[in-house]
Amino acid sequence: MKPKILVTRAIFPKIIEYLSAHFDVEDNQSDEVYNDAELMRRLQGKAGVFANPSHKFASELFNACPDLKAVCTMAVGFNNIDVPAATSAGIMVTNTPDVLNETTADFAWTLMMAAARRVSESERYLRAGQWQKSKYDDLLGRDVHGSTLGIIGMGRIGRAVARRSMGFNMKVVYHNRTRLTPELEVAANHAQYLALNELLRTADHVILVLPYSPAVHHLIGAEQLALMKPTATLVNIARGGIVDDAALIAALKAGQIATAGLDVFENEPALNPEFLTLKNVVLTSHIGSASVSTRDAMAYCAADNLISALSGERPANLLNATAFKS
Ligand code: GLV
Repeated sequence: MKPKILVTRAIFPKIIEYLSAHFDVEDNQSDEVYNDAELMRRLQGKAGVFANPSHKFASELFNACPDLKAVCTMAVGFNNIDVPAATSAGIMVTNTPDVLNETTADFAWTLMMAAARRVSESERYLRAGQWQKSKYDDLLGRDVHGSTLGIIGMGRIGRAVARRSMGFNMKVVYHNRTRLTPELEVAANHAQYLALNELLRTADHVILVLPYSPAVHHLIGAEQLALMKPTATLVNIARGGIVDDAALIAALKAGQIATAGLDVFENEPALNPEFLTLKNVVLTSHIGSASVSTRDAMAYCAADNLISALSGERPANLLNATAFKS
C-alpha cells in the first residue's frame, strides 16, 4: 500500500501526477484554504504533507497527527513551521532553498528599481489620462547606478542581490548575523560589513533578505526608519513582520524615506489599507519567486524531498537532521 499524503493547496497537475506514482494523494486543487481544525482533520492517517507558507504547523498539530513523518514545504522560508516541535515529534521538515535564489534576487532588483524610479506612479498617472504633455520635472526618481546598496541578510539570496550590483557601479554594504568570509565578501561585489544602524544611515537603497524569526520581529521600526536618508528606498522581499508596517506607512507619509517596494506584509494577504492610499510605494503580492521555471523547480524540489523522506532516504533539504532515522 502506498503511503498517504496531503497536498495542502493547489499545485501544478503534473506534480499531483508525479506524487501519485509514489503516494496515495489527497489533493486540494480547488484551493480551499483550510483552517487549523480542517487541516488537522485532513492530516489524520497521512504520513506526509506537501505544504506551503499559508498554513501553520505547530506542536498541537503534530501531537494530533501520530502518523505524520514529514512536512515538506514548497518555500525557502519555514517560519510557519515549528521545527523544534517537529523534531521532538520525530517529524522531518524540508524546504526548497537554492532553486529560487536568482529569481528572487531579480525580483528584489525589480522592486528597488521600480520604487526608486517611480514606475508604478508613472503608470497610474498615464492610465488615469493625466499625461497631457511632458514636463522637465515629471516624476523625478533616484538613481540606482553609482549609489550605495544596503543588504540586510547576506545569505544565498542576499549575495545574489549583491552580485547584480557589479554592473551598476554600486558600493555594497551589508548586515548579517555573522560576517561573511573575505572570499564571500569579494564575490558579493566587495561587500562591506556594517552594524545595522550604520547601514541604515549609509545606504541609498536598503533591501531586506533575512529570514523571519521572532528575534527579528519589527527589526525595522520607527527608530530605524528615522536613521535612513530622506532620499532612501526600502525593499522587503523577505517576510511580513520584519518591518513594522504602521511605522513604515508613517515614515512614507512624512517623507522620512522617499519610497518603498514591498512584496510581503504583516497579516498578508490582508495588508494595511493605508498602503493603498500612498503614492510612494510599489506593492506586489508575494511573488518574489514566481517565475515559470522557478515555481516549477520549487514544486519538484518539495516533491522529491517528500519522496525521499517517506522512502527511508535522507531528503536533500532536511532542516532537522535528528528527525531522520535511516
Ligand atoms: C517565499 O516566500 C519562500 O519562502 O519561498
